[in-house]
Parts: sequence; structure tokens; C-alpha cells
Amino acid sequence: MKIHACMRPDVMDANTLLDILLFILPAYVANAFPVIAGGRGPKLDFGRGLGDGRRVFGDGKTVVGFIAGVFAGWVCAVVIAMYYQIPGFAGTDAQIFCGFMLGFGTMLGDAFGSFIKRRLGREPGSQFILDQLMFLAVALVFAYPFAPQWVYTPFIIVGLFIVTYFLHIGSNILANRLKLKKVPW
Ligand code: CTP
Ligand code: MG
Repeated sequence: MKIHACMRPDVMDANTLLDILLFILPAYVANAFPVIAGGRGPKLDFGRGLGDGRRVFGDGKTVVGFIAGVFAGWVCAVVIAMYYQIPGFAGTDAQIFCGFMLGFGTMLGDAFGSFIKRRLGREPGSQFILDQLMFLAVALVFAYPFAPQWVYTPFIIVGLFIVTYFLHIGSNILANRLKLKKVPW
């Protein structure tokens, strides 16, 4: 097997960064899309609560948003695969499936983050560290069995969490300026 440059941080080059970006992009697209497409129709928890008197996920998580996120992640993976082969995948189908799992994991992680927020008594729309990182964590876990090994090195994984944290904050400020979100987080 060809050793990918990312296994060695000292030789990480622009090409490697592009590979990482295109690998993780379906997760980012899935995470961003519900802000545009969601917010309408039945809630993911259908309005139900738990024994603690709080909603399961809350009004911020809708069925349409969830499906739109998974779908957008998949479309993103298909489009990338049409133009670019990320090293380490057995073929186009494997690359697309991994992208799909990233999007699916993203939406599950997003809902799971809301679940925890509700249990902690935080309102939907409030700011919390899980907003930035839970989707990425679950996406990476779900994609793991299907992803190239070179991605799952401590250097890249920690780097992804750090970059994602700031990218998420920046993109939410942008979404707020564009009037897509009520709050800048
Ligand atoms: N959204 C949706 N369905 C989802 C996820 C998000 O419809 N599964 C939409 C909702 O309109 C939501 C907006 O995207 O308000 C922003 O998403 P997010 O910040 O994740 O939700 P919050 O409203 O902040 O709620 P929470 O505190 O539960 O994260
Ligand atoms: Mg939010």
C-alpha cells in the first residue's frame, strides 16, 4: 500500500489537505443543509418529551431537516466522486458510501447533541460546545469501517476537530448575517 503523505505531518502538503477536505465535506454539507431546508413540518421527536419533562430533541430538529441533511451529504459525496478519487478507497462506490455514512452520522450526531442539551435543560438555539463537535464525532465513528486508514491518525482527527470548531462558529456567524439563522451560533 502506498503510504499517504498524511501519515507524516512533516510532509503534509496541499494535496493532502485537499484529500482531507474532500473526505470530510459530506459531513459539513449535511450539517449545514438543514438550516436552509429544515425548520418546517413534523419535529423529529413528534413533540414528545421524556420523564424529565423536557422534549426528546426539541423544536430545532425536524424530520425534513434530518432527511435533507442526509440527502445533501450523499449528493455531495456523489458529486465529489464524479470528479475526484480520494486515495485509499477501493473504488467510486466505496467512496460514495463512506460519504453517505458521514452525512448520516452527522445528522444522528446533531440529534444526539440536541438530546443531551435537552437533558441538561438547555433551550434549542442556545450555544453549546456539542453544537460544534458532536456531529463530527458521530460522523467519524460511522464512517470509520468504510474510510481509508490514513484519515484516522491522531494528527488528522485532532486537526479536524479543531478546524471544525472554528469553521462551525464562522459559518454560523455568516448564516446569521445572511438571515438564515436567528442567532450567530
Ligand atoms: N434543523 C432542522 N432539522 C434538523 C436540524 C436542524 O430543521 N434535524 C433546522 C432548524 O430550523 C434549526 C436550525 O436548522 O433551528 C439550526 O439547527 P441547530 O443549530 O442544529 O438547532 P437549534 O435550533 O440550535 O437546536 P438545538 O439546541 O437542539 O441544537
Ligand atoms: Mg443551534
